Amino acid sequence: MVGPPKLWQNKRDCQIKFLLEHGLKQDHYLLDLGCGVLRGGIPLINYLEESHYYGIEKDPIRLEEGLKELEESNLTHKAPNLSTDYKNIDVKFDYIWSFQVLIHLSDKILEEVLFNIRNLLKDKGVCCATVAINKNPVNRSWREYPYVQRPLSFYEKKADKHNLSVNTVNYQSNNWKNMLEIRKKNF
Ligand SMILES: C[S@@+](CC[C@H](N)C(=O)[O-])C[C@H]1O[C@@H](n2cnc3c(N)ncnc32)[C@H](O)[C@@H]1O
Repeated sequence: MVGPPKLWQNKRDCQIKFLLEHGLKQDHYLLDLGCGVLRGGIPLINYLEESHYYGIEKDPIRLEEGLKELEESNLTHKAPNLSTDYKNIDVKFDYIWSFQVLIHLSDKILEEVLFNIRNLLKDKGVCCATVAINKNPVNRSWREYPYVQRPLSFYEKKADKHNLSVNTVNYQSNNWKNMLEIRKKNF
């Protein structure tokens, strides 16, 4: 549902590894935007304090699988807030994490997602999101979603409309082409 099984463990491990190296603490609030079946989510739920992990997954079938993963991992007591929409979110986030999601968003949905990122980040919070930067735009598809590559300037312009800044993170990984750090401007 989220990619080839042979890459599962690697793509699970690399997510918490990056976030810990990037400063994630147990008492932080984290939103996993496009959490899928909790491939990256399970170790994060395990690490964070109770109720500090929020996951948004558009597809209810993938989210249902995530709930099964949560039970199989004996982590229901961590009470993550999992939902297909943003309605129940009652906190602001230190981290918004979006792993292999922005590459599957149409331009219109990206606008909606940036709007939500701006609204949900703490003033000093950061959104880290994997993307595929390419100076020549690419439009393909993956499952029911697009698969897009975009120039960095595209993301900078879109983010600027929402009063957000974008930087690329200098971090080598086989698991993503590029990582963006998206922050509120003027903070
Ligand atoms: C390649 S999967 C990655 C899932 C997860 N981040 C992981 O690492 O396993 C992309 C996920 O993004 C979800 N998605 C796509 N568009 C979304 C949106 N607008 N809001 C929330 N989730 C979305 C898809 O349903 C899918 O589960």
